[in-house]
Amino acid sequence: MKMETEEMGSRRLDRVPMSGIRKVMNQVNALRAEGKDVISFSAGEPGFNTPEPIKEAACQCLRENLTHYPPNRGSLALRQAIARKTEEDTGVSYDPETEILITCGGAEGINDCILSTVDPGDEVIIFKPAFINYEALVLEIGAVPVSIDLRPENGFQIDLAEVESRITERTKLLVINSPNNPTGAVYSRDSLAGLGELAKKHHFLIFSDEMYSALVYDGLPFYSMAAFPGMKEQSLIVNGFSKTYAMTGWRLGYVTAPEKLMNRLVKHHQYTTTSIATFLQEGVALSMNLPETLHEVEHMKAMFARQRQVMMEGLDSLPGITYTKPYGAFYICADVSGVGMDGETFSRRLLDEALVATVPADCFGDSYQNLVRFSFAAKEEDIREGIRRIRAFLEASS
Ligand SMILES: Cc1ncc(COP(=O)(O)O)c(C=O)c1O
Repeated sequence: MKMETEEMGSRRLDRVPMSGIRKVMNQVNALRAEGKDVISFSAGEPGFNTPEPIKEAACQCLRENLTHYPPNRGSLALRQAIARKTEEDTGVSYDPETEILITCGGAEGINDCILSTVDPGDEVIIFKPAFINYEALVLEIGAVPVSIDLRPENGFQIDLAEVESRITERTKLLVINSPNNPTGAVYSRDSLAGLGELAKKHHFLIFSDEMYSALVYDGLPFYSMAAFPGMKEQSLIVNGFSKTYAMTGWRLGYVTAPEKLMNRLVKHHQYTTTSIATFLQEGVALSMNLPETLHEVEHMKAMFARQRQVMMEGLDSLPGITYTKPYGAFYICADVSGVGMDGETFSRRLLDEALVATVPADCFGDSYQNLVRFSFAAKEEDIREGIRRIRAFLEASS
Protein backbone atom coordinates (compact mmCIF):
# COMPACT_ATOMS: atom_id res chain seq x y z
CA MET A 1 0.00 0.00 0.00
CA LYS A 2 1.19 3.51 -0.79
CA MET A 3 2.45 5.58 2.16
CA GLU A 4 0.85 8.93 2.96
CA THR A 5 3.30 11.74 2.20
CA GLU A 6 3.43 12.74 5.87
CA GLU A 7 4.31 9.16 6.87
CA MET A 8 7.37 9.38 4.65
CA GLY A 9 8.91 11.89 7.07
CA SER A 10 11.52 10.51 9.48
CA ARG A 11 10.17 8.51 12.46
CA ARG A 12 12.76 10.31 14.60
CA LEU A 13 10.60 13.43 14.52
CA ASP A 14 7.52 11.61 15.82
CA ARG A 15 9.13 11.90 19.25
CA VAL A 16 9.30 15.70 19.09
CA PRO A 17 6.32 18.00 19.80
CA MET A 18 5.74 21.30 18.00
CA SER A 19 6.84 24.35 20.02
CA GLY A 20 4.19 25.55 22.49
CA ILE A 21 5.74 29.05 22.41
CA ARG A 22 5.56 29.30 18.62
CA LYS A 23 1.95 28.07 18.72
CA VAL A 24 0.93 31.09 20.81
CA MET A 25 3.10 33.46 18.75
CA ASN A 26 1.37 32.23 15.56
CA GLN A 27 -2.06 32.80 17.15
CA VAL A 28 -1.01 36.33 18.11
CA ASN A 29 0.15 37.06 14.55
CA ALA A 30 -3.09 35.67 13.09
CA LEU A 31 -5.23 37.80 15.44
CA ARG A 32 -3.16 40.90 14.68
CA ALA A 33 -3.53 40.23 10.95
CA GLU A 34 -7.31 40.36 11.53
CA GLY A 35 -6.80 43.84 13.03
CA LYS A 36 -7.20 42.71 16.67
CA ASP A 37 -5.33 44.70 19.32
CA VAL A 38 -3.46 41.89 21.12
CA ILE A 39 -1.24 42.57 24.12
CA SER A 40 1.51 39.98 24.05
CA PHE A 41 3.16 38.65 27.17
CA SER A 42 4.07 35.56 25.19
CA ALA A 43 7.21 36.26 23.18
CA GLY A 44 10.70 36.30 24.66
CA GLU A 45 11.33 39.36 22.53
CA PRO A 46 12.58 42.76 23.72
CA GLY A 47 10.23 45.56 22.68
CA PHE A 48 13.28 47.74 21.81
CA ASN A 49 15.05 48.35 18.54
CA THR A 50 18.65 47.27 17.94
CA PRO A 51 21.15 49.92 19.16
CA GLU A 52 21.89 52.55 16.47
CA PRO A 53 25.70 52.00 16.35
CA ILE A 54 25.16 48.32 15.50
CA LYS A 55 22.68 49.09 12.71
CA GLU A 56 24.98 51.78 11.28
CA ALA A 57 28.02 49.51 11.32
CA ALA A 58 26.15 46.66 9.61
CA CYS A 59 24.87 49.02 6.87
CA GLN A 60 28.39 50.33 6.37
CA CYS A 61 29.75 46.77 6.04
CA LEU A 62 27.06 45.95 3.49
CA ARG A 63 27.92 49.05 1.46
CA GLU A 64 31.58 48.02 1.59
CA ASN A 65 30.53 44.75 -0.05
CA LEU A 66 31.36 42.47 2.85
CA THR A 67 29.04 39.99 1.22
CA HIS A 68 31.31 37.01 0.57
CA TYR A 69 31.55 33.74 2.49
CA PRO A 70 32.90 34.18 6.02
CA PRO A 71 34.97 31.48 7.76
CA ASN A 72 32.93 28.53 9.13
CA ARG A 73 33.68 29.51 12.70
CA GLY A 74 32.52 33.07 11.99
CA SER A 75 34.32 36.35 11.40
CA LEU A 76 37.57 36.46 13.36
CA ALA A 77 36.97 40.10 14.28
CA LEU A 78 33.65 39.15 15.86
CA ARG A 79 35.17 36.21 17.71
CA GLN A 80 37.84 38.57 19.06
CA ALA A 81 35.21 41.10 20.19
CA ILE A 82 33.24 38.30 21.90
CA ALA A 83 36.38 36.96 23.59
CA ARG A 84 37.07 40.42 25.00
CA LYS A 85 33.51 40.92 26.28
CA THR A 86 33.30 37.40 27.73
CA GLU A 87 36.55 37.85 29.64
CA GLU A 88 35.40 41.22 31.00
CA ASP A 89 32.00 39.85 32.05
CA THR A 90 32.92 36.42 33.39
CA GLY A 91 36.69 36.32 33.91
CA VAL A 92 36.98 33.35 31.53
CA SER A 93 39.35 33.71 28.60
CA TYR A 94 38.68 31.93 25.31
CA ASP A 95 40.99 31.75 22.31
CA PRO A 96 39.10 33.45 19.45
CA GLU A 97 40.93 31.28 16.90
CA THR A 98 39.89 27.93 18.35
CA GLU A 99 37.31 28.24 21.14
CA ILE A 100 34.48 30.43 19.78
CA LEU A 101 31.84 29.62 17.17
CA ILE A 102 29.35 32.13 15.73
CA THR A 103 25.91 30.57 15.31
CA CYS A 104 22.50 31.36 13.87
CA GLY A 105 21.04 32.66 17.13
CA GLY A 106 21.34 30.93 20.47
CA ALA A 107 19.01 28.28 19.03
CA GLU A 108 21.65 26.97 16.64
CA GLY A 109 24.18 27.07 19.48
CA ILE A 110 21.93 24.77 21.53
CA ASN A 111 21.55 22.46 18.55
CA ASP A 112 25.33 22.35 17.90
CA CYS A 113 26.14 21.68 21.56
CA ILE A 114 23.61 18.88 22.02
CA LEU A 115 24.09 17.19 18.65
CA SER A 116 27.87 17.30 18.91
CA THR A 117 28.08 15.69 22.34
CA VAL A 118 25.11 13.35 22.81
CA ASP A 119 24.59 9.89 21.25
CA PRO A 120 21.45 7.71 21.13
CA GLY A 121 20.93 6.11 24.55
CA ASP A 122 22.93 8.73 26.46
CA GLU A 123 21.20 10.36 29.41
CA VAL A 124 20.85 14.13 29.58
CA ILE A 125 19.77 15.78 32.83
CA ILE A 126 17.38 18.71 32.31
CA PHE A 127 15.94 20.86 35.08
CA LYS A 128 12.27 21.59 34.54
CA PRO A 129 10.53 23.81 33.77
CA ALA A 130 12.93 24.27 30.85
CA PHE A 131 13.23 26.13 27.57
CA ILE A 132 11.72 23.68 25.10
CA ASN A 133 14.62 23.20 22.66
CA TYR A 134 16.77 21.07 24.98
CA GLU A 135 14.40 18.15 25.43
CA ALA A 136 13.18 18.28 21.82
CA LEU A 137 16.74 17.83 20.53
CA VAL A 138 17.57 15.11 23.04
CA LEU A 139 14.45 13.20 21.95
CA GLU A 140 15.21 13.71 18.28
CA ILE A 141 18.65 12.13 18.74
CA GLY A 142 17.14 9.13 20.51
CA ALA A 143 18.89 10.01 23.77
CA VAL A 144 17.11 9.93 27.14
CA PRO A 145 16.02 13.15 28.87
CA VAL A 146 16.21 12.81 32.67
CA SER A 147 13.95 15.50 34.11
CA ILE A 148 14.45 17.03 37.52
CA ASP A 149 11.41 19.10 38.48
CA LEU A 150 12.27 22.30 40.31
CA ARG A 151 9.60 23.63 42.61
CA PRO A 152 8.18 27.15 42.87
CA GLU A 153 8.15 26.94 46.69
CA ASN A 154 11.97 26.55 46.55
CA GLY A 155 12.32 29.50 44.20
CA PHE A 156 12.99 26.98 41.39
CA GLN A 157 16.44 26.37 42.91
CA ILE A 158 18.53 23.20 42.52
CA ASP A 159 18.88 20.47 45.15
CA LEU A 160 22.37 19.00 44.64
CA ALA A 161 21.57 15.77 46.52
CA GLU A 162 18.64 15.15 44.19
CA VAL A 163 20.87 15.79 41.18
CA GLU A 164 23.48 13.32 42.42
CA SER A 165 20.79 10.69 42.94
CA ARG A 166 19.83 10.95 39.25
CA ILE A 167 23.35 10.56 37.84
CA THR A 168 24.11 7.18 36.24
CA GLU A 169 26.87 5.58 34.17
CA ARG A 170 25.06 6.86 31.10
CA THR A 171 24.83 10.52 32.13
CA LYS A 172 26.58 12.41 29.36
CA LEU A 173 25.36 15.97 29.70
CA LEU A 174 23.62 18.18 32.24
CA VAL A 175 21.78 21.23 30.94
CA ILE A 176 21.48 24.45 32.92
CA ASN A 177 19.95 27.78 32.04
CA SER A 178 20.52 30.62 34.47
CA PRO A 179 19.02 33.23 34.42
CA ASN A 180 16.19 30.95 33.49
CA ASN A 181 13.49 30.89 30.87
CA PRO A 182 10.66 30.42 31.92
CA THR A 183 11.09 31.00 35.69
CA GLY A 184 13.48 33.97 35.94
CA ALA A 185 15.47 32.00 38.56
CA VAL A 186 19.17 32.73 38.93
CA TYR A 187 21.15 29.83 40.41
CA SER A 188 23.29 30.54 43.43
CA ARG A 189 27.08 30.45 43.33
CA ASP A 190 27.04 27.40 45.61
CA SER A 191 24.64 25.51 43.36
CA LEU A 192 26.76 26.17 40.29
CA ALA A 193 29.98 25.27 42.12
CA GLY A 194 28.29 22.08 43.37
CA LEU A 195 27.16 21.11 39.86
CA GLY A 196 30.72 21.64 38.65
CA GLU A 197 32.01 19.31 41.38
CA LEU A 198 29.46 16.65 40.39
CA ALA A 199 30.47 16.97 36.71
CA LYS A 200 34.11 16.42 37.60
CA LYS A 201 33.40 13.57 40.02
CA HIS A 202 31.07 11.68 37.65
CA HIS A 203 32.72 12.81 34.44
CA PHE A 204 29.95 14.40 32.41
CA LEU A 205 29.72 17.67 30.49
CA ILE A 206 27.68 20.74 31.44
CA PHE A 207 25.87 22.64 28.74
CA SER A 208 25.09 26.09 30.12
CA ASP A 209 22.65 28.32 28.25
CA GLU A 210 23.67 31.81 29.37
CA MET A 211 21.50 33.80 26.92
CA TYR A 212 20.27 36.03 29.74
CA SER A 213 23.63 36.51 31.51
CA ALA A 214 23.38 40.31 31.22
CA LEU A 215 19.83 40.46 32.60
CA VAL A 216 20.18 39.94 36.34
CA TYR A 217 18.36 42.27 38.75
CA ASP A 218 18.59 43.54 42.32
CA GLY A 219 22.39 43.74 42.10
CA LEU A 220 22.76 39.94 42.01
CA PRO A 221 26.04 38.76 40.43
CA PHE A 222 26.15 36.48 37.38
CA TYR A 223 28.52 33.49 37.36
CA SER A 224 29.36 31.61 34.20
CA MET A 225 29.60 27.83 34.61
CA ALA A 226 32.99 27.98 32.90
CA ALA A 227 34.34 30.28 35.64
CA PHE A 228 34.39 27.52 38.28
CA PRO A 229 37.66 25.65 38.90
CA GLY A 230 38.36 23.16 36.12
CA MET A 231 34.98 23.77 34.50
CA LYS A 232 36.05 25.61 31.36
CA GLU A 233 37.30 22.22 30.15
CA GLN A 234 33.98 20.50 30.82
CA SER A 235 31.48 23.20 29.79
CA LEU A 236 29.85 24.32 26.58
CA ILE A 237 28.39 27.81 26.88
CA VAL A 238 25.73 29.37 24.65
CA ASN A 239 25.15 33.10 24.55
CA GLY A 240 23.98 35.59 21.94
CA PHE A 241 22.77 39.00 20.90
CA SER A 242 18.99 38.40 20.69
CA LYS A 243 17.99 39.36 24.20
CA THR A 244 20.73 41.66 25.53
CA TYR A 245 21.17 43.72 22.35
CA ALA A 246 17.53 43.50 21.15
CA MET A 247 18.61 41.61 18.02
CA THR A 248 16.20 38.67 17.82
CA GLY A 249 15.76 38.99 14.05
CA TRP A 250 19.48 39.17 13.28
CA ARG A 251 19.84 35.52 14.29
CA LEU A 252 23.25 35.93 15.85
CA GLY A 253 24.54 33.85 18.75
CA TYR A 254 27.73 32.07 19.79
CA VAL A 255 29.17 29.10 21.61
CA THR A 256 32.34 29.08 23.69
CA ALA A 257 33.93 25.72 24.48
CA PRO A 258 37.38 24.14 24.89
CA GLU A 259 39.20 23.53 21.63
CA LYS A 260 38.72 19.76 21.29
CA LEU A 261 34.97 19.94 21.87
CA MET A 262 34.74 23.01 19.68
CA ASN A 263 36.30 21.11 16.76
CA ARG A 264 33.37 18.69 16.94
CA LEU A 265 30.84 21.52 17.03
CA VAL A 266 32.43 23.11 13.97
CA LYS A 267 32.08 19.79 12.12
CA HIS A 268 28.33 19.76 12.81
CA HIS A 269 27.90 23.48 12.12
CA GLN A 270 29.67 23.36 8.74
CA TYR A 271 27.02 20.99 7.38
CA THR A 272 24.04 22.93 8.74
CA THR A 273 24.20 26.72 8.92
CA THR A 274 27.74 26.90 7.46
CA SER A 275 28.04 30.51 8.69
CA ILE A 276 26.08 33.73 9.24
CA ALA A 277 25.85 36.76 6.90
CA THR A 278 29.31 38.36 6.67
CA PHE A 279 28.23 42.01 6.87
CA LEU A 280 26.14 41.34 9.99
CA GLN A 281 29.05 39.69 11.74
CA GLU A 282 31.58 42.35 10.71
CA GLY A 283 29.17 45.14 11.65
CA VAL A 284 28.59 43.68 15.11
CA ALA A 285 32.33 43.16 15.56
CA LEU A 286 32.91 46.87 14.95
CA SER A 287 30.14 48.07 17.23
CA MET A 288 29.30 45.63 20.05
CA ASN A 289 31.87 46.96 22.51
CA LEU A 290 31.51 50.68 21.68
CA PRO A 291 30.61 52.84 24.70
CA GLU A 292 27.48 54.15 22.85
CA THR A 293 26.27 50.57 22.27
CA LEU A 294 26.96 49.50 25.83
CA HIS A 295 25.14 52.58 27.04
CA GLU A 296 22.01 51.53 25.08
CA VAL A 297 22.33 47.98 26.43
CA GLU A 298 22.48 49.32 30.00
CA HIS A 299 19.46 51.51 29.31
CA MET A 300 17.45 48.49 28.08
CA LYS A 301 18.46 46.53 31.17
CA ALA A 302 17.21 49.37 33.37
CA MET A 303 13.92 49.34 31.42
CA PHE A 304 13.55 45.57 31.88
CA ALA A 305 14.09 46.04 35.62
CA ARG A 306 11.34 48.67 35.62
CA GLN A 307 9.01 46.45 33.55
CA ARG A 308 9.62 43.58 35.97
CA GLN A 309 8.49 45.83 38.80
CA VAL A 310 5.34 46.92 36.92
CA MET A 311 4.47 43.31 36.04
CA MET A 312 5.00 42.11 39.63
CA GLU A 313 2.87 44.92 41.06
CA GLY A 314 0.20 44.15 38.47
CA LEU A 315 0.15 40.43 39.28
CA ASP A 316 0.18 41.23 43.03
CA SER A 317 -3.04 43.17 42.50
CA LEU A 318 -4.85 40.22 40.87
CA PRO A 319 -6.77 37.86 43.17
CA GLY A 320 -5.94 34.15 42.89
CA ILE A 321 -2.61 34.57 41.07
CA THR A 322 0.68 33.86 42.83
CA TYR A 323 4.23 33.74 41.49
CA THR A 324 7.86 33.19 42.36
CA LYS A 325 9.85 36.40 42.13
CA PRO A 326 12.18 36.39 39.11
CA TYR A 327 15.77 37.63 39.58
CA GLY A 328 16.83 37.47 35.94
CA ALA A 329 15.75 37.16 32.28
CA PHE A 330 12.30 38.65 31.53
CA TYR A 331 9.77 36.03 32.56
CA ILE A 332 7.49 35.32 35.48
CA CYS A 333 5.95 31.90 36.05
CA ALA A 334 2.64 32.45 37.81
CA ASP A 335 0.33 29.88 39.39
CA VAL A 336 -3.26 30.47 38.23
CA SER A 337 -4.93 27.56 40.03
CA GLY A 338 -6.36 30.07 42.53
CA VAL A 339 -8.67 31.43 39.83
CA GLY A 340 -10.12 27.97 39.22
CA MET A 341 -8.42 27.24 35.90
CA ASP A 342 -5.38 25.28 34.80
CA GLY A 343 -2.67 27.10 32.88
CA GLU A 344 -3.80 25.92 29.46
CA THR A 345 -7.43 27.00 30.02
CA PHE A 346 -6.38 30.33 31.52
CA SER A 347 -4.05 31.12 28.61
CA ARG A 348 -6.50 30.05 25.92
CA ARG A 349 -9.46 31.90 27.41
CA LEU A 350 -7.40 35.00 28.19
CA LEU A 351 -6.33 35.24 24.55
CA ASP A 352 -9.82 34.51 23.16
CA GLU A 353 -11.76 36.71 25.57
CA ALA A 354 -9.35 39.51 26.52
CA LEU A 355 -6.74 39.49 23.73
CA VAL A 356 -3.84 39.00 26.14
CA ALA A 357 -1.30 36.36 25.11
CA THR A 358 0.66 34.25 27.62
CA VAL A 359 2.27 30.81 27.39
CA PRO A 360 0.88 27.87 29.40
CA ALA A 361 3.88 26.40 31.22
CA ASP A 362 3.02 22.75 30.57
CA CYS A 363 5.12 23.05 27.41
CA PHE A 364 8.14 23.62 29.69
CA GLY A 365 7.46 20.48 31.76
CA ASP A 366 4.57 18.07 32.40
CA SER A 367 4.31 18.95 36.11
CA TYR A 368 3.52 22.59 35.53
CA GLN A 369 -0.13 22.38 34.49
CA ASN A 370 -1.07 25.24 36.81
CA LEU A 371 1.63 27.66 35.73
CA VAL A 372 1.56 30.31 33.03
CA ARG A 373 4.58 32.22 31.70
CA PHE A 374 4.27 36.00 31.49
CA SER A 375 7.01 37.81 29.56
CA PHE A 376 7.68 41.34 30.80
CA ALA A 377 9.75 42.21 27.73
CA ALA A 378 6.64 44.18 26.65
CA LYS A 379 6.35 47.99 26.84
CA GLU A 380 5.39 49.40 30.24
CA GLU A 381 2.07 50.81 28.98
CA ASP A 382 1.24 47.44 27.42
CA ILE A 383 1.95 45.70 30.73
CA ARG A 384 -0.44 48.09 32.50
CA GLU A 385 -3.12 47.61 29.84
CA GLY A 386 -2.62 43.81 29.88
CA ILE A 387 -3.08 43.71 33.65
CA ARG A 388 -6.27 45.82 33.32
CA ARG A 389 -7.63 43.33 30.80
CA ILE A 390 -6.72 40.34 32.98
CA ARG A 391 -8.53 41.93 35.93
CA ALA A 392 -11.66 42.48 33.82
CA PHE A 393 -11.39 38.91 32.47
CA LEU A 394 -11.14 37.46 35.99
CA GLU A 395 -14.10 39.54 37.19
CA ALA A 396 -16.20 38.40 34.24
CA SER A 397 -15.31 34.74 34.78
CA SER A 398 -15.87 34.61 38.56
C1 LIG B 1 17.01 30.23 27.26
C2 LIG B 1 17.04 30.54 25.81
N1 LIG B 1 18.03 30.03 25.07
C3 LIG B 1 18.11 30.27 23.76
C4 LIG B 1 17.15 31.03 23.11
C5 LIG B 1 17.26 31.23 21.63
O1 LIG B 1 17.79 32.46 21.32
P1 LIG B 1 17.86 32.98 19.82
O2 LIG B 1 16.63 33.75 19.56
O3 LIG B 1 19.10 33.82 19.78
O4 LIG B 1 17.98 31.80 18.94
C6 LIG B 1 16.10 31.57 23.84
C7 LIG B 1 15.04 32.35 23.16
O5 LIG B 1 13.96 32.56 23.66
C8 LIG B 1 16.04 31.32 25.23
O6 LIG B 1 15.04 31.80 25.99
